[in-house]
Amino acid sequence: MKHYLSINDIDSLPNWVDEAIALKKSPYGFQHLGKQKTICLLFFNNSLRTRLSTQKAAMYLGMEVMIMNFGSEGWALEYEDGTMMNQGTSEHIKEAARVVSQFCDIVAIRAFAKLEDKITDEAEEVLTGFAKHASIPIVNMESSVAHPLQALADAITLAEHKTKSKPKVVLSWAPHPKALPHAVANSFVQMMKKQEADFIITHPKGYELNPEITNGCQIEYDQETALENADFIYVKNWSSYEDYGQVLHQNTNWMMTEKKLGHAKFMHCLPVRRNVVVEDAVLDKNQSLVIEQANNRTFAAQLVLKKILENHE
Ligand code: CP
Repeated sequence: MKHYLSINDIDSLPNWVDEAIALKKSPYGFQHLGKQKTICLLFFNNSLRTRLSTQKAAMYLGMEVMIMNFGSEGWALEYEDGTMMNQGTSEHIKEAARVVSQFCDIVAIRAFAKLEDKITDEAEEVLTGFAKHASIPIVNMESSVAHPLQALADAITLAEHKTKSKPKVVLSWAPHPKALPHAVANSFVQMMKKQEADFIITHPKGYELNPEITNGCQIEYDQETALENADFIYVKNWSSYEDYGQVLHQNTNWMMTEKKLGHAKFMHCLPVRRNVVVEDAVLDKNQSLVIEQANNRTFAAQLVLKKILENHE
């Protein structure tokens, strides 16, 4: 595997999940792979889990880690070819990506959607710019439209907690005061399409995700109907895709509650706003898997880095 940019870079999800669970039992077993190798983590946006879990994963593999908060510390990058750079940008992606490639062996990048323009966000200029101009493997730590490390961690968590071969898994939209990107939901849907499950997406009308991603998925606009007999309920907010980046309405009655959860396990990628997205009682119950999900981010990242390092031995 050269890069890990999307869920489509996973050749066999069941095999990857098994391998990640094995790594979790013996995380120091592959230190030789990362010896005298460096990973650079570039953050154009904030993070808690992604930063620490990817760093921990690299340390488990014996790698050196360099971290840069590019969004606040780096030069403003230009991505267009042939631009006269007499405005706000100071450095072109062509130089930046090639310079970074000299300092490390893998570069991992976080660059969220700005939610101002769908075409610009879907062009993934940061990620594709680095993939085009860097000479080293690229790992997606959440881009405009995808969060494949989170989705792989979620697949591991589902595998560890499911009690039947084909569980019912519901992805439920939840209210949020701010406009949030679609990346987590997109990658979760793509991951669910790669495994055996009775999978349903529920959200108010107007919050349909990109139909190219949800193609073939069951969509139920009535949350109560969707949640019936669920084994896992994955809660996430996203802004409108059609009316791009807009919060259409607050829909506070879509918040996840203890009553709605029933006997299902609760999942969320974190960070989460208590008593807006989900009530305290859900997060404070044993049925909540959010801390396990965050822990599995390490082993998802470790598996991805291991596969890249093995490919470059
Ligand atoms: N879930 C997730 O990506 O968390 P952070 O934004 O804290 O990295």
